[in-house]
This record gives sequence, structure tokens and C-alpha cells, in this order.
Amino acid sequence: MAQQVQGVIAPGKNEPVRVETIVIPDPGPGEAVVKIQTCGVCHTDLHYKQGGINDDFPFLLGHEAAGIVESVGEGVTDVEPGDFVVLNWRAVCGQCRACRRGRPWYCFNTHNAKQKMTLLDGTELSPALGIGAFAEKTLVAAGQCTKVDPEVSPAAAGLLGCGVMAGIGAAINTGEVGRGDSVAVIGCGGVGDAAVMGARLAGAARIIAVDIDDRKLETAKKMGATHTVNSRTTDPVEAIRALTGGNGADVVIEAVGRPETYKQAFYARDLAGTVVLVGVPTPEMQLELPLIDVFGRGGSLKSSWYGDCLPSRDFPMLIDLHQQGRIDLGAFVTETIGLGDVEQAFTRMHEGDVLRSVVVF
Ligand SMILES: NC(=O)c1ccc[n+]([C@@H]2O[C@H](COP(=O)([O-])OP(=O)(O)OC[C@H]3O[C@@H](n4cnc5c(N)ncnc54)[C@H](O)[C@@H]3O)[C@@H](O)[C@H]2O)c1
Ligand SMILES: [Zn+2]
Ligand SMILES: [Zn+2]
Repeated sequence: MAQQVQGVIAPGKNEPVRVETIVIPDPGPGEAVVKIQTCGVCHTDLHYKQGGINDDFPFLLGHEAAGIVESVGEGVTDVEPGDFVVLNWRAVCGQCRACRRGRPWYCFNTHNAKQKMTLLDGTELSPALGIGAFAEKTLVAAGQCTKVDPEVSPAAAGLLGCGVMAGIGAAINTGEVGRGDSVAVIGCGGVGDAAVMGARLAGAARIIAVDIDDRKLETAKKMGATHTVNSRTTDPVEAIRALTGGNGADVVIEAVGRPETYKQAFYARDLAGTVVLVGVPTPEMQLELPLIDVFGRGGSLKSSWYGDCLPSRDFPMLIDLHQQGRIDLGAFVTETIGLGDVEQAFTRMHEGDVLRSVVVF
């Protein structure tokens, strides 16, 4: 029997989000219904609301979630009702050309639920990143449920489902930060701060945090930044070079998603260094760079989709490190809010007041 629950939808481009009744079908083959305990507010949810991802309104927002599996459909063997899970948006297919080449973290055909969640009038919803977890319950592909240690706080664990994993992975998986490296991170929101944390975990010797907001730089220090640069008042390229013997950083992680900050990352990097773009640009943005500089500076320009993570490998590992006190996932939770507070949380995010607001059910 389909169930009715409350969820937050983005009805149309730039329209305020609102709480609506959502119809959740029973799980079909390979699907699971998850009772959501917590879901973080990510900048990508705001991108959806602004029409920056695509035009498939209405969206059911929310995708950084932890919860308990309530029911599973036919053929599901990896999870069962009662399991504590973090939801992921990379349920790998095992069949596509990336999976077949042994690189499942690039999977080009990830699984989502086949059935649609709808509004009461039957309007089909597009769940953000195939999840849609600003809702009391959601329907996902069973592979989107990653079982983790149930002793961990759901609010902290759920953030691994997107932004924190994307940031840590941008440093450790995509950027391949190593012991002794110098790293700069441009944009220190939830994703950038997680990149700072990842760089520290990987043994970076120097970690330079760049943001236009001093409050963000203060938090970045707590996450492991050794130096901070306010790029509203200081040229970040010059500052990063000055802090790295005049050379630039080995790895520069762009966690804003804008052409001007990408250019800063490009020029703040040492010769043969690595730029990692983890910030998500919008479709109209253009980048112009002298091709001779792309050649002459060498190295690699990479994009980090979800921190090149493999949820089944990386979520339990990072939760273990958190439980051992080697990283503090709880540090990303600035505030907990109710389902009706998401619009306000977007405003607070925009104003730089929070790393993560987390909806608690
Ligand atoms: N690649 C992925 O898989 C992935 C996953 C999650 C989020 N993201 C993207 O990462 C980006 C950051 O997400 P978030 O949730 O941390 O957002 P956020 O809003 O919490 O953080 C953005 C930070 O960038 C800073 N900033 C803005 N303009 C700047 C500038 N010109 N120079 C320096 N800093 C600037 C802000 O002050 C803020 O601290 C977004 O684009 C989001 O969509 C990517
Ligand atoms: Zn695949
Ligand atoms: Zn996200």
C-alpha cells in the first residue's frame, strides 16, 4: 500500500520551497523505502531550486541523509528492514564501461528507484540526486543504501551522503593528496571544509583555506587549515604562492563552482600540480584561459564527481575514522532544523551563517 508522508518540494524555478504531502509507493524489485532520520541542506539543493541543474520541476529536495530501512522489494539482499543506512547517489551498476574497467566510482549508469514518488494529484516528482530525503520517508534503489555502524550520530553520518564525502574525496581520491603536500582549498563551505579535513587526513603539510568570509576561515582552521586567506581583500593567487615558497600549491581544490575561482585555482597551483574542481558550475558559465598556460603549467585538471567515492568502501571507512576520533564529522553540523525550515536554511547558507543545517525528523 502506497503511503503518504510530508516532504519538501521545489515547485518551480526560484519559487520558495514548501512542505507537501508526498505519495511513496511500496518498494518494487531492487527498491527500498527508508525512514529518514536526518537530512543535511546542501548547496546542490539550492542549485536545483534555482533551476541550475535541470528543469524537471517539481523536485523533491534533500539528499544528505541517514535513516532506517523500512521495507525492501523483491530480490534485495544487501539490506533488510531495520538496517541503519546512509543514502548515496552512486549505486553502481557493475555493467557499464566504467564498472567493467574496474573503475566503479565513475559508474555511468547508477541505479535509482524505478517507480516515481508523486504529489497527491499524481504529479511525478524528481528526487534531488535520485534521493529526495527532505521527507519522512523516501523510495530509493536498494544499492543507494549503505549500511554503517548504527552507533554513530545520524546527523553526522548522513552528511557523508554528499557534501562531506565529495570534499574529503576531492582531496584523498581525486587530488591524491599525499604526505607532505601543500594544498589550497578555495571556498570553505561544507564541501571545502571537508576537503581541508581530507587533506589533513592524507598528511598534507600545508593547508591553505581561501574564502571571502572570515567566519568560514575560522571554521576551516578548526578542520585543519594551517593558513587562511580572505580573497575579498587579498589576491589569493599571490597569497598561496607566497605561502608555498613562491611556487604555488601541489593540489588546489576549487569548491565554489565559478569561473573566477577556477582561474584562481589554475594559477595558484605549482607547475605540474593538480587542480580539482568539486564546486558545481551552472550551464551558462564559461571559462577562458590561454591555451599556452594550460600546456606550459602542465599537471592535471580534474573534476571530482562525488569525491570519486565508492560508497560501500568509503562510508564505513570514514565512519570508523570518525568513531576513532581521527576526523570529526559532527563538526559540520551547525544547527538542526525542522522540515518547515528549509527555505530559511537556504537563506542562512547564502549568507554564510552555516556549514550545514540538518533537518531532523
Ligand atoms: N562535486 C560534487 O560531487 C559535489 C557534491 C556536493 C556539492 N557540490 C558543490 O560544491 C559547492 C560547494 O557546496 P557547499 O555545500 O560547500 O556550499 P556552501 O554554500 O556551504 O559553501 C560555499 C563557500 O564558498 C564561499 N565562496 C563563495 N564565493 C566565493 C569566492 N568568489 N571566493 C572564495 N570563496 C567563495 C562561500 O563563502 C562559502 O563558504 C557547490 O557548488 C555544490 O553544488 C559538489
Ligand atoms: Zn556502472
Ligand atoms: Zn549535496
